[in-house]
Amino acid sequence: MKAKLFADRHFPIGNIDRRIYGSFLEHLGRAVYGGIYDPEHPTADDMGFRADVLELVRKLRVPVVRYPGGNFVSGYNWEDGTGPKENRPRRMEQAWSAIETNQVGIDEFQEWARRAGTEVMMAVNLGTRGVEDARNLVEYCNFPGGTKYSDLRRANGFEKPFGIKYWCLGNEMDGPWQIGHKTAREYGRLAAEAGKVMKWTDPSIQLVACGSSNTGMPTFGSWEETVLEETYDVADFLSLHSYYGNPDNNTEEFLACSKDMDDFISTVASICDVVKSRLHSDKTMMLSFDEWNVWFHSGEQDKKIEKWTVAPPQLEDVYNFEDALVVGCLLITLLRHADRVKMACLAQLVNVIAPIMTETGGRSWAQTIFYPFLDASLHGNGVSLRTAVECGSYQAGKYGETSYLESIAVANEQAREIVVFAVNRSLTEEMELEIQVTGYGDLEKLSHRVLFCEDLKAVNTADAPDTVAPGELPLAEATVLPKHSWNVIRYRY
Ligand code: AHR
Repeated sequence: MKAKLFADRHFPIGNIDRRIYGSFLEHLGRAVYGGIYDPEHPTADDMGFRADVLELVRKLRVPVVRYPGGNFVSGYNWEDGTGPKENRPRRMEQAWSAIETNQVGIDEFQEWARRAGTEVMMAVNLGTRGVEDARNLVEYCNFPGGTKYSDLRRANGFEKPFGIKYWCLGNEMDGPWQIGHKTAREYGRLAAEAGKVMKWTDPSIQLVACGSSNTGMPTFGSWEETVLEETYDVADFLSLHSYYGNPDNNTEEFLACSKDMDDFISTVASICDVVKSRLHSDKTMMLSFDEWNVWFHSGEQDKKIEKWTVAPPQLEDVYNFEDALVVGCLLITLLRHADRVKMACLAQLVNVIAPIMTETGGRSWAQTIFYPFLDASLHGNGVSLRTAVECGSYQAGKYGETSYLESIAVANEQAREIVVFAVNRSLTEEMELEIQVTGYGDLEKLSHRVLFCEDLKAVNTADAPDTVAPGELPLAEATVLPKHSWNVIRYRY
């Protein structure tokens, strides 16, 4: 099959905000305990953090990590995770029916983030708590000293403020599964008041208001409108969440799910703009796609997990090669909306629906989805360019007619590079892709990195961690994308 991709320097979409390569760590399953924190582990550092996991996280160059939830945050008392560890309470954690030991809290996590070379994106509990606790937490984290909560932080051994810039106003408050679930109006009012006082406590912070949990919610659309009516002035971002799966084993359809993400982003951006005009505001609301990934493999296994245990193996999706292609398509979609999506979090980071897996006390390895994320984080920087493609298409079930090519071009002025990310969705045919990016002078091809595996269901495991791993194609004049493959083609200009 032959295809063409056109882009030009004069048709940019927008500057890529590096925060779109963020991730997420929730107090859920073995994400924290046995994941990032494992004091008995041979690589554990002075604070009990696994050095092998830190190394994998650093490799991904994740700029921001959302914490501590997720559904978890809506029942969380942040004070439980501060002060001497022996005094911290064990709690019934009701979002995931597990026991929370509180051996890791904000004190430890902000230090883990520093060691991982990332920033914390903190969520406040607007489920069981409200304005006062949110305000106190900002004071604890960000106020220098001389007040109750800033002095409590100092007494706990952290003289300097943590300086946490990004704050989520609750999590998925539209969902009946959420502790303290609210109507859009109830949530919007609470988020506006909490956000107002949080910004009075630290005017430099940026706030994310909750959008819908997914497009299938009965309130999708009206939720965004009402919440924005209440929070437009105080919020800096509206959140989007979406997970995809292939329960019917229809790979062609599954590979097209990025079209759903694309529509979702465009729709939410439009709703934001309607509210903007209705409020006569000068501000354009930015989007934080702060939960996205493939999630469906662990569904059955999770039903068998015993309740009220510490760090049970929940949501441990083992990702196969086709999942990596989907993650690649979703990353390309985020880049295509670089003008509006200024923050995003791959959900999640370690063990729980994650690119990094560990054995508690044992080995760690990269899942298949680690690789497209790594490529995008390393090479998807600069300006995202509008692309036009000529390519064949196919009927992708519920997603309708879909191009075989999912692609984006990025211009990195600092590195003087043009980078094309491309997924060939064809399960049978390779694709000869003619790339015409104009306005940058002559382009010299530097590399063509590919993620390909004959077996779409191949996975990486502790025993065979490199079953699905990227490789370099020899440099050739023609750019040929193997059937069902993720590709990163770099040019110097
Ligand atoms: O990421 C797993 C869960 O998915 C999060 O806790 C919740 O916000 C979403 O429903």
